[in-house]
Amino acid sequence: MAKLLIINGPNLNLLGQRETKIYGHTSLDELNQALAHLCLDNNHQLESYQSNSESSIIDTIHLAKDKIDFIIINPAAYTHTSIAIRDALLGVSIPFIEVHLSNTAAREAFRKISYLSDIALGTISGFGTHSYYLALDAAFNYLKSAKN
Ligand code: DQA
Repeated sequence: MAKLLIINGPNLNLLGQRETKIYGHTSLDELNQALAHLCLDNNHQLESYQSNSESSIIDTIHLAKDKIDFIIINPAAYTHTSIAIRDALLGVSIPFIEVHLSNTAAREAFRKISYLSDIALGTISGFGTHSYYLALDAAFNYLKSAKN
């Protein structure tokens, strides 16, 4: 059994209410519950965390060291600005996948920049909440092959 952590960044607490044409109608609670069930079905454990604060996200990444096997992170707007979150992820050396609901490459120019993509195992972007399910599937595969 592995321990996975999903981190969601600023404004994702408003998922389901915020810009629904882009981000959809599912709330973060509904999404987290469904993902936790999927993890349990695969004999893994999932913790989820959301914060609007960069420093709290960094503290959460630090606390994950030696406790969490895999991180899935949607850093939201911090994707495009935060060298500090990048450094935190490098600092704990936990494998991670970057996730976005929207296809950031097809949006405004400032969203095309990510401070995490080149250090992530991979990035999944553009499939709405399904991006998280795809990321979990990739994480399960990674954890299986890391064990062998
Ligand atoms: C987002 C894309 C970011 O550009 C944006 O700031 C978000 C959400 C996404 O999931 O599509 O808040 O990360």
